[in-house]
Amino acid sequence: MDLREQARKLRQELVQFRRDLHRHPELGMQEVRTSRKVREALQGLGLEIRHPVANTGVVALLRGRSPSPVVALRADMDALPIQDRKEVPYASQVPGVMHACGHDGHTTILVGVARILAGMRDRLPGSVKFIFQPAEEGPGGALPMIEEGALRDPDVDWIVGLHLSPELPVGKVAVRYGVAGAAADAFRLVVTGAGGHGAAPHRAVDAIAVSAQCIAALQTLVSREVNPTDPVVITVGTIHGGYRHNVIADRVVMEGTIRTLDRSVRDGIPERMRRLLGGVAEAMRARIELEVERGYPPLVNDERVAAAVRRSAEKILGPDKVEVLDRPTMGAEDFAYFLERVPGCFFRLGGGNEEKGIIHPGHHPEYDFDEEALVVGVAVMSQVVLDLLGEGV
Ligand code: NI
Repeated sequence: MDLREQARKLRQELVQFRRDLHRHPELGMQEVRTSRKVREALQGLGLEIRHPVANTGVVALLRGRSPSPVVALRADMDALPIQDRKEVPYASQVPGVMHACGHDGHTTILVGVARILAGMRDRLPGSVKFIFQPAEEGPGGALPMIEEGALRDPDVDWIVGLHLSPELPVGKVAVRYGVAGAAADAFRLVVTGAGGHGAAPHRAVDAIAVSAQCIAALQTLVSREVNPTDPVVITVGTIHGGYRHNVIADRVVMEGTIRTLDRSVRDGIPERMRRLLGGVAEAMRARIELEVERGYPPLVNDERVAAAVRRSAEKILGPDKVEVLDRPTMGAEDFAYFLERVPGCFFRLGGGNEEKGIIHPGHHPEYDFDEEALVVGVAVMSQVVLDLLGEGV
């Protein structure tokens, strides 16, 4: 029986499992129930299960007829602090928490792949490691899982992950060669002036006026200091300051995100910000404090593994359903940490369906995906594993 048929046979169970997770979403590092459901679903398949790994994480090993090579597949399990506004029977039952990024789908797909591959273990020319990680949306579960040995014992040769994409129609897959996603660093900027009466600016240092110049200057850092062929995004996401309409603010606090694709560009940004913002503030008699917290690194797919994933997806879906993306996204993903250590590929699985009104972007309160994507995801992932174990890259 071919993989697509096998996956289709699981459809009802996959939908049921996914809807259960969707009804009971859990925030990062709190995926206690989800993690238990995953382990229950893997029971009886003959996998060696390690838990807890990084709190709620699960690593399940399927040994084939030879111990190596080893392919790892990864799914994230966490939901988001968003109120579900969908009118469907499987809507979230947890107020203010929702699977608005499809991680319930990713988790379900990995369980489905485990089911199928466990049924053919005698023919598997290697082993498969299933990694279910917490907290992709932050603070990040990939790195703690790696630190707790998720990629060792046995060592992983290749790793593959996927993300449902609402922009891509269900039935399609998109692969990107090389740099596919951005590094995401967070910053906090405090501007300190001197408070005073709104009618006497000369006796104060207006932290709001200084902040306005800082925000504008930050964008010239992007447009005037960095090579234009190296994408950089600096977004000021929050700004807080001031007390009253006729009071000059003594202090403003801003938070933002810095996105970069290139490691050396990334490394240089904090110092550039400090010099530029420090200079602006000094010129205006104010002071700044800047903290930059490094987040997820750029996501870089291995070209050969990406090519292998593309070939496998084409076997399942046909060449016209597999796109090669010509540009990266400035979004970030902590799968990047796995890819820093092991060659692999993170690809996009179509989840959108305009006819069914499934059009909302990720993190939207009405986000959903077409559940046919579960079948497609299971079939493609299973094929990827068989091809990597059988042929390598
Ligand atoms: Ni996500």
